[in-house]
Amino acid sequence: MSTTASSRRAWRSQLAFCTADPFHESTAEAFHFIRDGVVVCENGRFAAVGEAERILPTLGDDIPIEHYPDHIIIPGMVDAHVHYPQHGIIGAYSGELLEWLEQVAFPAEAAFADRAHADSVAEEFLEGLLTNGTTTALVFATVHEASVEAFFTAAARRGLRMICGKVLMDRNAPAALLDTADSGDRQSRALIERWHGHDRLGYAVTPRFALTSSSAQLSSAGRLLEAYPDVLLHTHLCENPHEIQAVKGEFPHCEDYLGVYEAHGLVGSRSVFAHSIHLSEREQACLGEHDAAVAFCPMSNFALGSGLFDLDAARQHRLRVALGSDVGAGNSLSLLRCLDEAYKTCKLRGQRLEPAHALYLATLGGARALGLERQIGSLEVGKEADFVVLDPLATPDQRSRNVPPRDASERLFTIFSLGDDRCVAQTIAAGRVAHRRTAEAIPS
Ligand code: GUN
Ligand code: ZN
Repeated sequence: MSTTASSRRAWRSQLAFCTADPFHESTAEAFHFIRDGVVVCENGRFAAVGEAERILPTLGDDIPIEHYPDHIIIPGMVDAHVHYPQHGIIGAYSGELLEWLEQVAFPAEAAFADRAHADSVAEEFLEGLLTNGTTTALVFATVHEASVEAFFTAAARRGLRMICGKVLMDRNAPAALLDTADSGDRQSRALIERWHGHDRLGYAVTPRFALTSSSAQLSSAGRLLEAYPDVLLHTHLCENPHEIQAVKGEFPHCEDYLGVYEAHGLVGSRSVFAHSIHLSEREQACLGEHDAAVAFCPMSNFALGSGLFDLDAARQHRLRVALGSDVGAGNSLSLLRCLDEAYKTCKLRGQRLEPAHALYLATLGGARALGLERQIGSLEVGKEADFVVLDPLATPDQRSRNVPPRDASERLFTIFSLGDDRCVAQTIAAGRVAHRRTAEAIPS
């Protein structure tokens, strides 16, 4: 990492984090809460994490310590599916997925042929992520090579751990947004060579979805995954019933939607499939057998009326599940808002999303889905020091609650249920303060 804090620095607060998957381990083993804890950062990593009474005596007098006794520090949140070029069209009124793509998303993406436009949207998007406590994201750019250049340049300057990819789309979209199997392959290779593994950046081969890529292009995406064994595959899957029907029409010889990706070598442990709502039993099982990951995108699923993700089925098939804002169909970059809608999705399905599980989805679960669990996702010595200081009393509704939380889980739950960017007091990336909520901005 070239962008690191060179000197030691500490934060003292309540700490909440997962070191294992509470869906599969007991919550007591997976979830950790420290009432008075300290994290010490050095050279961009956690140098010490634990109880204040144990850590403080080991620190010299000259180490700056920020003390937030009533706040909660959690790991930096991970948005496992988001489109940075769609930040400017967030909150659009529209019909379902295919209408929204044609009328809202595609026209906005055409503007990213202009590098200056891409630069400015990338900057404000990253600012938006940090304001919301998101320190890592798996990001769609557009079909334009310059859109990826703009994004990685902005992320590198801020020292962030980010993954992005040029969108591959060679049919069923406006001409201004089309590449070809050859140009998509060539540009993807150039971008991988230039950016993958540079600082904290990684690349994802990004065919938009089965409808906008020819079989030739999906095959070339499969060859890219073979040629570069540690890049990710990022695409959409089984989001909307009309989309699924259309995919059947385009690929009549494939068994189902996932079968299209399988036939082109795109299903594996490095694959992240956004939405994955309307999966057959075969598709669930196939994702599990290939150790693929899925991104649960409840804000977008509600906004476009796409459907209710089946978290219990995903758990039963041992899929790695992460959380995605899916901005711009999703209507907020806040993963706290996203957790609230994930909770309500589960309720509507008669399922539960316990607070520790929610924390896992937004942090270590996301890191695991992106193959980054050795680097980020929890507060552990040696990991990169990406974390968030959350204020549990930042919003009027939070302050109006007059029943104290019974335990750490309930304390977290009120943040997930009532919180948004106002709760993000600080976002720290690689040991540096990347966002600090100003006192003036906090309503009295
Ligand atoms: N499927 C194909 N492209 C998109 C997109 O941009 N957003 C969403 N939500 N689904 C898609
Ligand atoms: Zn999407």
